[in-house]
Amino acid sequence: MRLQTKAIHAGVDKDSAFNSVITPIYQTSTFRFEDIGKTKGYDYSRTANPTRKALEENIAALEGGCAAAAVATGMAAITTVLHFFHSGDHIICTHDCYGGTERILRTYRQLFGLEVTYVNMGDLDSVKAALRPATKGLWIETPSNPLLNIIDIRALSEIAHQNRCLSIVDNTFLSPAHQRPFELGADIIVHSTTKYLNGHSDVVGGAVVVNRSDLAERLHFLQNALGQGASPFDCWLVLRGIKTLLPRMKAHEENSRTVARFLDQHPNVRRVYYPGLESHPQHELAKRQQHGFGGMVSFEVDGGIEEVNHVLRSVKIFSVAESLGGVESLISHSVSMTHASMDPGLRAKAGINERVLRLSVGIEDVNDLIEDLDQALNFKNAVSRPATSVFSEA
Ligand SMILES: Cc1ncc(COP(=O)(O)O)c(C=O)c1O
Repeated sequence: MRLQTKAIHAGVDKDSAFNSVITPIYQTSTFRFEDIGKTKGYDYSRTANPTRKALEENIAALEGGCAAAAVATGMAAITTVLHFFHSGDHIICTHDCYGGTERILRTYRQLFGLEVTYVNMGDLDSVKAALRPATKGLWIETPSNPLLNIIDIRALSEIAHQNRCLSIVDNTFLSPAHQRPFELGADIIVHSTTKYLNGHSDVVGGAVVVNRSDLAERLHFLQNALGQGASPFDCWLVLRGIKTLLPRMKAHEENSRTVARFLDQHPNVRRVYYPGLESHPQHELAKRQQHGFGGMVSFEVDGGIEEVNHVLRSVKIFSVAESLGGVESLISHSVSMTHASMDPGLRAKAGINERVLRLSVGIEDVNDLIEDLDQALNFKNAVSRPATSVFSEA
């Protein structure tokens, strides 16, 4: 089956009770035994649930993995993967990772002695220099959040394997529609299904996907032991969202390319970050390793925090909100919102300054999006407010 057919059918054609075309929501905590020690494959929903199983098979098929675990949030997916490691193990993480990833890595370092080094993974020599005998994992996020830097999954996975490490990719920003890390050598993929996979801003969810049976065994153990499984209803919603993943991603990409080009020539925009622009420093790499450029665009306002606040206060169609990947357009201020919890030194090192605004470009009519941004960016002579950020972390 091709990807679009898998998105609709993988994992879902299994209702033996009534042949329902859509997977039912098995909203039950427990399952009746048929006889002593004999079940119909399910005994307790923390361990496994048929609706969750359908979603897990679907996501595993889309990513080309052998198994997946659908969990309650993207952070639950990340936390689950951290339990593949032991105290004293060392992880090398990309220096501009999602703020929540940095926060949980910092917490696990304090609680359990999991060691972490942040490096600019665009520089493969820095990655090699950071390797230690205890290094067990490379944590890769590409495109990065919010600056949309692209890092080379294939080269990093080779470094990981030469050093007996796991190559872990957070594939949230592109989804399997636009990037399939297993094809590039990754061992584990994590997702916040909250974003493009579900695509309708009505669920928080996560997934871990693996492509080796030993990792699958550990994953299923952890899913039961940690108890982070996604609820049947949330799984059903994500399954429903995935059916339109490919057409949605196409529309997100078309709109974001148009928005990026518009911003690129706007006099009040200092810089645009979008891998689909030929001027993006890793445009060629993005073309090579991705199947599309996604729907995220970041830019720097040509001004200070007052101008940034003006834009945030002026947008009408874009909602000022955390998150991304839904059909509706969102705008966020990275320093005071998504990356507020990140260590300020690390944030500055990653180049995330207070002028950066991140757009999750939705699938509305792109002319409306451009008109909205244009009027919001019209801040010359309009700014006279105190220089403090008006938005704080959720
Ligand atoms: C790249 C990335 N990974 C993981 C997460 C965490 O996902 P969740 O909010 O579903 O826990 C996010 C959230 O924004 C994210 O952007």
